[in-house]
Amino acid sequence: MIKPGDLHHADYKSAVTDWAHNSKDWPMKEEIEKLKVKSELELTNLSTEADVYQFKSRYLGRNGSLTSLIKLLRDVDPQERASVGAALNTFKKELEEHIETALLHARFTAKNQRISESRVDVTLPGRKLPLGSRHPITTIAATVIEIFTSLGFEVVEGPEVELDFFNFEALNIPKDHPARDMHDTFYISENTLLRTHTSPVQIRTMKLTNPPVRILCPGKVYRCDSDISHTPMFHQVEGLMVDEDISFGDLKGILTIAVHKIFDEDTRLRFRPSYFPFTEPSAEVDIQCVMCRGKGCRVCSNTGWLEILGSGMVHPQVFRNVGYDPEKVTGFAFGLGIERIAMLKFGINDIRLFFENDFRFLSQF
Ligand code: FA5
Ligand code: MG
Repeated sequence: MIKPGDLHHADYKSAVTDWAHNSKDWPMKEEIEKLKVKSELELTNLSTEADVYQFKSRYLGRNGSLTSLIKLLRDVDPQERASVGAALNTFKKELEEHIETALLHARFTAKNQRISESRVDVTLPGRKLPLGSRHPITTIAATVIEIFTSLGFEVVEGPEVELDFFNFEALNIPKDHPARDMHDTFYISENTLLRTHTSPVQIRTMKLTNPPVRILCPGKVYRCDSDISHTPMFHQVEGLMVDEDISFGDLKGILTIAVHKIFDEDTRLRFRPSYFPFTEPSAEVDIQCVMCRGKGCRVCSNTGWLEILGSGMVHPQVFRNVGYDPEKVTGFAFGLGIERIAMLKFGINDIRLFFENDFRFLSQF
């Protein structure tokens, strides 16, 4: 026979119900006391948060022991109901408070354990901070600048937002000149634009200084152009040398020295006749394609060569535009593309890689 005290028996609830129905003097308060003692014992054994929640549902869940007792209240003798109800309520409140405390305790213990497990071992070797490296374009620009400054060139800079006058007009490219089609220009207004080359810095410098001039102008330039070997923003380095008796031989000599220093002495280069409105004669310099070693590939458009710079003898009209006397001085100028050189030097077949900022690419330099 099941007694009300057999709290763990599966049939406990129905047994208690029977008692409550059948026996008016069944001591409900005694049951409450027993459950209290039992709960206090169990409370001391709770350690994890999960333990506490299980305990909570055992007592206060839908079918919990205390919940079941509370349900029996309606069957208690009306005279005793108020005091039994009060006892149940007090017990319930106490239990809830104990559960709250046990939860806090379990969380605190777990946290302490986590902290002590992750304690720092000060005897371990330190972690190295990852070191950055120079962007390949910066490296090449620095190399080019160093080579030319060692040859006596002085670095000068100019604005990226430029006047049409300096970018085109003074360079012998009037508004209706077909050469404007060679530069896919980003216009800002009718007379201002993003400079399409570094050549306007030549004009600005010559307008301000008298010959001799030996300058180098590195910087960003912009063209509405984008494919495997063109980007809308790229870098050029302009060079200008003006003095008495400067010849095409000087141009060839200086550029050959520079190209051999940038690459190496065995690098094949060729001067190919070309056209620029601001130089006469003009030549473009090509380097043998390092991707295919001159056989012809996608990068060099199957020509075996890659153009790295434009150059020429300064046009007499340009001298007149800046107030120099073309009867007294001569000079040469060149503009080289930094990205092209970087591609050849590092064996990169797509210029766009320089500007995608892909860490896997950049960390190789
Ligand atoms: C010029 O820009 C002339 N100002 C160069 C010059 C200066 C000639 C002085 C004579 C005297 P060009 O448009 O060819 O020329 O460009 C020069 C170099 O810039 C090219 O050889 C190439 O290396 C590079 N370049 C041109 N367009 C792009 C582009 N969209 N993306 C990357 N590099 C480019
Ligand atoms: Mg060109």
